[in-house]
Amino acid sequence: MVSTGPEETAASELEPLLTAQQIAVRVAEMGVRISADYEPEPVLLVGVLKGAAIFLADLARSLHLEASYDFLAASSYGQGTRSSGVVRLIKDLSEDISSRHVIVVEDILDTGLTLNYLCRLLRERHPKSLRTAVLLDKPSRRQVPFKADYVGFTIPDEFVVGYGLDFQERYRNLPGVYRLGGSIAKV
Ligand code: IMP
Repeated sequence: MVSTGPEETAASELEPLLTAQQIAVRVAEMGVRISADYEPEPVLLVGVLKGAAIFLADLARSLHLEASYDFLAASSYGQGTRSSGVVRLIKDLSEDISSRHVIVVEDILDTGLTLNYLCRLLRERHPKSLRTAVLLDKPSRRQVPFKADYVGFTIPDEFVVGYGLDFQERYRNLPGVYRLGGSIAKV
């Protein structure tokens, strides 16, 4: 039997929030804006694994700048949909960021704990500048004050998956963003 694509695998618990087309248009706009802000300086994109991998790949290709990238990984989430509140660095960068223009690229800004922690950590390494780019922002969920420099979409307080975002490692490969509905969202 022919295997089903990711859209078919997605069960009825998923409600569309952003289409792949809407995301592509917005990411291209963010690329234009970031390029205008940094031109002609090179930038280093720092992606936060695993969720930001897909966003970073698209954002990097939308920049009209010399751009390199590296990844780190932090964890604040357990197996459910709520943050444990404690952020840990699981994987560090392999690049030296001192005297470089660094843009931390994150899938979603939620409580703010992860980016707050990461920015404090990276600032100690003396980058030339440090900014943040997030695809999604849920401002109503903030536990620490944090404002991203570049925001794709501001969304309400709902758990979302797709375009890199997961629920228990599922749904990351969906090309759009979906609300995770039903009882699963309350785990
Ligand atoms: P924060 O530290 O609470 O801002 O959370 C940042 C991280 O939480 C993100 O990188 C995601 O991994 C995860 N996260 C927060 N909200 C969602 C969501 O709605 N869906 C999937 N992951 C989320």
